[in-house]
Amino acid sequence: MQAPAVTTPIKPKTRGWLVRTLPILVLVLLLLPVPDLGAGTGQAILGLQLFHSAMRCLRPQQLQARQRPSVARPPIPTVTQHQPAVPPSCQVDTCSASGPGFAGQSLASTWGSKPSLAPPSAASSETTVRTASADKRWWNQDKDLWVEVHTEEEFRREVSTGDKLVAVDFFATWCHGCEKSYPEICRVIRDPELRKQVKFVKVCVDELKNLAKAEGVTALPRMLVYRPGHAGPLVGLDVPYSKVRYLRTNLNVILNNPGMAFGADPNGFVTPTGKLPPPDEAARAAAAKALEAEQLQSGHSGLFEHLMKVANNNNNNNGNSNGHNDKAAPSAAASISTSSSQQHQQPAAAAAAAAAAAVKSVGAGIGGLFSPHPHPHPPVCKAPPGADAAAYEVARQRFLEEHGEEYGYGGIIDSLYPSEVGVRMAPNEHYLDYTGSSVYCQSQLDAVFAELRQCMFGNPHSANPSSSFTSERVEEVRDMVLRHFNASPAEYQVVFTKSATDGLKLVGETFPWTEGSMFRYLRENHNSVLGIREYALQGGGAFQAVNESFVERWALQGDPAGDHSPPNTRFPAPTYSLFAFPAEDNFAGVKYPLEWVRGVQSRSSDSHRWLVMVDAAAFVPTQPLDLSQVPVDFVDLSFYKMFGYPTGVGALIVKTSLVSLLRKVFWGGGTVALATSEDNFHVLKCRPSDRLEDGTVAFLDVIAVKHGLRALERLGGIRRVQAHVTALTEWLYGRLAGLRHSNGQPMLAIFGKHHLPNHRQVQGGIVNFELLKPDGSIFSYKTFEKEAAAAGFHVRTGAECNPGACYNYLGVQESEVESLAGHKEGCEDDVEFIRVQRPVAEEAQDAISSADLLRSIANSNLSLAHPAAVALKWMEVPLGSVRVSLGWWSTFDDVFAFADWVERSYRDRSA
Ligand SMILES: Cc1ncc(COP(=O)(O)O)c(C=O)c1O
Repeated sequence: MQAPAVTTPIKPKTRGWLVRTLPILVLVLLLLPVPDLGAGTGQAILGLQLFHSAMRCLRPQQLQARQRPSVARPPIPTVTQHQPAVPPSCQVDTCSASGPGFAGQSLASTWGSKPSLAPPSAASSETTVRTASADKRWWNQDKDLWVEVHTEEEFRREVSTGDKLVAVDFFATWCHGCEKSYPEICRVIRDPELRKQVKFVKVCVDELKNLAKAEGVTALPRMLVYRPGHAGPLVGLDVPYSKVRYLRTNLNVILNNPGMAFGADPNGFVTPTGKLPPPDEAARAAAAKALEAEQLQSGHSGLFEHLMKVANNNNNNNGNSNGHNDKAAPSAAASISTSSSQQHQQPAAAAAAAAAAAVKSVGAGIGGLFSPHPHPHPPVCKAPPGADAAAYEVARQRFLEEHGEEYGYGGIIDSLYPSEVGVRMAPNEHYLDYTGSSVYCQSQLDAVFAELRQCMFGNPHSANPSSSFTSERVEEVRDMVLRHFNASPAEYQVVFTKSATDGLKLVGETFPWTEGSMFRYLRENHNSVLGIREYALQGGGAFQAVNESFVERWALQGDPAGDHSPPNTRFPAPTYSLFAFPAEDNFAGVKYPLEWVRGVQSRSSDSHRWLVMVDAAAFVPTQPLDLSQVPVDFVDLSFYKMFGYPTGVGALIVKTSLVSLLRKVFWGGGTVALATSEDNFHVLKCRPSDRLEDGTVAFLDVIAVKHGLRALERLGGIRRVQAHVTALTEWLYGRLAGLRHSNGQPMLAIFGKHHLPNHRQVQGGIVNFELLKPDGSIFSYKTFEKEAAAAGFHVRTGAECNPGACYNYLGVQESEVESLAGHKEGCEDDVEFIRVQRPVAEEAQDAISSADLLRSIANSNLSLAHPAAVALKWMEVPLGSVRVSLGWWSTFDDVFAFADWVERSYRDRSA
C-alpha cells in the first residue's frame, strides 16, 4: 500500500504546467548531445531521469520530506537501478488509508528502549503546515468519554478496579496518527451499550513515560485492554486510523470470551489464544516488584538515587530523624530560620557556629550533600579587610532583622558558603557576576562525578544497555526541566541546545517567516535575540524594535496601532509573526511583565498569528517561571546561568503544537528516522524534541543538569533563591544609592527600576551603575573594573551584549554607535567614551556629563520643540557601565564588602 502523503501538495496549477511542459522538455533533451555517453543512451537516460523525477514530484502520496528537485546528480547507469523514493518498509500502512498520518510512530527514541515491535513506522515529515487542529488541542475534545489519568497510581487504580473491561488509549500530543484516529475512536466508544461494559482511559505517554514503557507501549497510537483482577494488559491493539474500524469488533471479541487470553494479528484482528490463567495474587506482587526494580533502573529513581537512599537510610538508622527526601531540606531550613532570629542577637562567631551545627543536621537530612567540606574556607560573617568591624556588625544585624526570613535559606548559607563555593576563592574575593555565569557548588560537582564514576553511559540512539541507560537519564532530565518550570508534558517539549543563544537561533532559523511576517522585539533584548532579525529578513519579513510603553499600549491596552497587517501574500495559511522579550534584561535587571505573553498572543487574527518568545536566560537563575500560568510559545535558557555547571547545555522549551510549524532545513544524527545516501530522501523523527536536536545531545552534560536542579531544590527551591537574592539586592541598592561625596553629590547613577515602589515585581538581582565623580562627570568604568579586580571583586563592565538597554540608559544614539564601526572591537578595547553634542537646558549650561544631562532634562521644562531654550554642548558619554549581579550563593558579606569598598575607594575621587 502506498505510504501516507506528508508533503505539501503541489498546486493543481503547477501540476498542469508540468504535465504540459514535460513531454516537450524530454523531447528537447533527447535531441541534445550529452558528453561522455553514447549519444542516444545518455540522452535517453537523462530524459527518463528528468521525467522520473518530475513524476515523483507529481505523485500526491509522496513520503519525501522537503523533496527538492534531483539536480546536479551524475547520471546513473539505468533508470531501473534508481532507489525507490519510498523504502518498502514505509509502504506498510500502519496508519492511514488516505491522507497524512504519523501513526505507528516508534517510541524507541522516547525512552531509549529496544527497537519497536510494532509494524515499521510510517514516520513523519515536517512539511505539512498544520495550524487549526494544533490550536484546538484535539486530545481535549470529547473529554466526557474518557477517564484521564495523570499519575501511575491513578492508572493502577483505574485498570484494577470495577467490573468493566478497561481500554487504555496511549497517545502523545505530537503524534499525528493519534490525532487522526482520535475522532474515530471517540465515535466508536460513544456507543452507550459499549460503555456499559468498557471503561475508557487515556494516558499521555509524555506525562507517564515510565509507565508506558513498563506496559510495553513502543509505538503510537496504541490501545491496551485490561481486565481488573488480572495483572498486565490482556491484549494490545494498534489503533491507527486505518484500523479503528475494527475496534468495536475487537472489543466485542474480548467481551464475548471472558476468561480467555488474546492475541492481535498484524492485520489488527484480535483472536482468543487460550485460557487465561486464574488471577494470581503472587504473580501480581511479582509483577509489581519487577516494575519497581525497573523503575529503580530508569526514570526518576535510578541507581544513583538508590545509593543515595541507602546512604540516607543509614543516616536515619544512625539516629537522624530528618529523613532523606528533598522535602526535608525546606522544613529543616525553616526550623533553622526560627533559630536564626535568636542568632541575630549573638556575636557573629557564635551565630556561625550555631548555623554550622544546624547545617550539619540539614546536610545529614539530605543525604550528606551540603555537608561541610573537609577543608573549609575560613568562616564568613566577619568584617572585610579595611572595613570598620563595628559598622559591619551593625549593618549585618540590621539586615538580618529586616530580611532574616528571606536571606540565606533559613540561615544556612553563611555556613555552607565556605565549603561549597568559597573553597575555590581567596578569602577576600567576592563573586558578583552571576548574570555572566552562576557558580556551582562542591556537593553538586561531587554528585555529578559520583554518577559518572558509577554508571556506564554510552551514546544514546541505540538499544544496547549503556545507550538505553543514557537515553533514560536524558529523558529523566527533560522531565525534571518541565517540572521545574511547571510545564505540562502534554503541552511543552524540552529541546536541549548548546546555549540560550543556540535556542534563539533555532527558533530564528526554523520560524515560518513569510513576506508579511514581522519580528518585533523589545529594545532591551540581548543581542542574541537581535540576531534573529537576519532570518526574518531572509524569509521576506521585516523587523521592529519597540520600547516598553509601545508593548504596554499594544499588548495590554489593545492599541490597534501596534497590530501589524501583513500585505496580502500568496500563502493561504496564516502569516506568522514573532514577538520576543527578555523576562529580565541582562543589563539593568529589569523584569518585564509576563502578562505581555497573553496580550501579544491575543493580537492574533485568523490570517495573522503572533507567537511569543521569552528569553529567560537572565531571569530563571533567580526567579520562578511557571509555564502553567504563562503560555509562552518559546522559552530559551542556559543552564550554567542557573547553577554554574555544566556549560554547553541550554534548553528551548517549546509548545508541542508549534513544532510542526517550524521549518527545519538541516537534519543530522538524532533528528532523522530514515535517510538515503544518494537520493534526496529523509524522514525526520516523530517526537518534536527529537527532530529539533541535531547530532548527539551533550548527554553527560545533560545528566549533570539534574544535579544542578537538585541542588536548587535542596536550598528550598527557586522561590527561596528569589527571596534570598531580592533581600540582598534591596540592601545593596539602598546602600549604593545612599553614597554621597562630601559635596553632597551622589557617588553613583544607578539604572533600572530599583527606585519604584513595586521594585520587587519589576527589578531582578542586578545593580548596574556609572560611578560619578564629585563634579557629576562619569568615572572610567574600565579603571573601576581593574581596581575592583585587584581588590577581589568579580564584576562585569561594558554594554553587556545588550546595546538596546545600554545605549538607551546612557543616552547614546544609534547613529553615534554606528560611527564607531572600525574603531571599536569589543569589550576589551580602549574605546570607553564617545564625544557627542547634546542639547543642554539653559539652567544646566555647566552640565558636562550625560548623567548631568539626563538629570537636568528631567528637572527642567525643556521642550526640544523650542530650540531657543536649548544649547548644544560637547560631552563625553560612556559606552558601558558597571554591572553587579547576584545569585543563589551570594552572601551578605559579598554585598557589604563591595559597597564598603566602593565608598572607601571612590568617595571624593576625581581621577
Ligand atoms: C538575557 C540573555 N539572553 C541570552 C544570553 C545568551 O546566553 P548564552 O551566551 O549562554 O547563549 C544571555 C547571556 O548573558 C543573557 O543574559
